[in-house]
Amino acid sequence: MNYQYVDLPNIDKIAEEILKKLPPEHRKKNMFKGYPTEFFDMKPLRDAINKITSWDNIHDIALVSTKPHSFLPIHIDYHDLLKETVYALNIPIYNCDNTHVIFYRVINENILAKHKTQEHGNADEYCEYTDSDVEEIEKFYLKTAALFNTQVPHKAVNNTNEPRIVLTIRFKSRLDVNKIPTLTL
Ligand SMILES: [Fe+2]
Repeated sequence: MNYQYVDLPNIDKIAEEILKKLPPEHRKKNMFKGYPTEFFDMKPLRDAINKITSWDNIHDIALVSTKPHSFLPIHIDYHDLLKETVYALNIPIYNCDNTHVIFYRVINENILAKHKTQEHGNADEYCEYTDSDVEEIEKFYLKTAALFNTQVPHKAVNNTNEPRIVLTIRFKSRLDVNKIPTLTL
């Protein structure tokens, strides 16, 4: 499974509150940046997380931004924890209705580059693939919160005039997909 929409409350409220405290660099740059959980400790997000797991099970929270008319490289998220937990919870924050993600199948196991920084948390840790080593399997619109398979190569695409901003949450232990309220959209 590449993704699964999740029935969570307060999605619009979460987006509204996060936009209020969005570090401005996310509007201007393509970036993946992790923040301490406390930075996003707000009631609507807590209430949503408590529907599927506990707040204490959050490992970290990152903001992923894709600037207008650009894309992120094809990659899998490279993080020791994710080898076990696989899924991140992605929540649309801004301009996700008209932008999308492409999932790929690897046809040549040939990693172009490994990016790993020494910064806090999960900043910029990914294995990059090149176009010729993968083929497209699925296009995904983040219409609402979704479990996102970080271990399938993917690329965010933004062909609009506004930045695309997503909140992505990683957990300490693997979520039980069968116990999560899902949605089909
Ligand atoms: Fe990713």
